[in-house]
Amino acid sequence: MRPLQQRRAFVTGASSGIGAATARALVEAGARVALVARNGEGLADVARRLDGRATSHACDVRDERQVARAVRDAAEAMGGIDLVVSAAGLGRFAAVEDTPPDEWREILDTNLTGTFLVFRETLPHVRRARGHLFAIASIAATRPFAQSAAYSASKAGVRALAAVVAEEVRREGVRVTTIIPGAVDTPFWDRAGGTELDRSRMLRPDDVARAILRAAAEPETTSIDEIVVMPAEGVL
Ligand SMILES: NC(=O)c1ccc[n+]([C@@H]2O[C@H](COP(=O)([O-])OP(=O)(O)OC[C@H]3O[C@@H](n4cnc5c(N)ncnc54)[C@H](OP(=O)(O)O)[C@@H]3O)[C@@H](O)[C@H]2O)c1
Repeated sequence: MRPLQQRRAFVTGASSGIGAATARALVEAGARVALVARNGEGLADVARRLDGRATSHACDVRDERQVARAVRDAAEAMGGIDLVVSAAGLGRFAAVEDTPPDEWREILDTNLTGTFLVFRETLPHVRRARGHLFAIASIAATRPFAQSAAYSASKAGVRALAAVVAEEVRREGVRVTTIIPGAVDTPFWDRAGGTELDRSRMLRPDDVARAILRAAAEPETTSIDEIVVMPAEGVL
């Protein structure tokens, strides 16, 4: 297995849920981490709990210039970037006829275009380091759920984007892994609103973080292209 010490990770969505759990797990494994999300105070809170092993970079992943600046600052702070986790995202759930076009665009811009911009800007660093990109898709990318057109379309797009990037870079020693989680108990569900799922039966953010760290630690001869991580009971 490849040790995670000395890795320099750029983690979006790091102020909450899966991104925060992954950042913590990476720091505990000895990596340096750049935390990225919009809310600087949320990031600072997470950074404080990581004992100075992480830097914070407030950034809206929908904005090309902000992403470019965050990547530049993070690479400077850490001396490069070899691991990227694109976990910034959101969901809202309504029938197609009840989905305002602005909401559709917000979900596609954040989940899909945000991942595109983050991959596009970090790739020169990751290529240099023969590093590893992680996209966080969703089980909604692989099977249809009513009331989830915008979210499912965005996550199916993330899955396709990551698979294409993998083909573009795998011969240069860069690995790309798509994580496909089922429901995870995070603030995502408070923000999504209107959904009534039993949160006690969901995955925990640490369950997803563990899957990411395991794939990152695989030897250079192995690429784990996709990982489906589901609650033990399956779709809730
Ligand atoms: N929870 C689930 O059941 C589940 C299942 C499958 C996949 N996922 C996916 O996993 C990822 C993480 O979700 P989570 O459950 O951890 O949700 P969460 O707790 O709500 O965290 C979402 C994170 O994304 C950040 N974010 C949102 N919009 C952003 C933007 N425009 N620019 C930069 N950062 C932004 C948020 O911070 P700010 O608001 O401060 O920007 C926050 O740090 C998402 O892509 C989600 O779709 C979640």
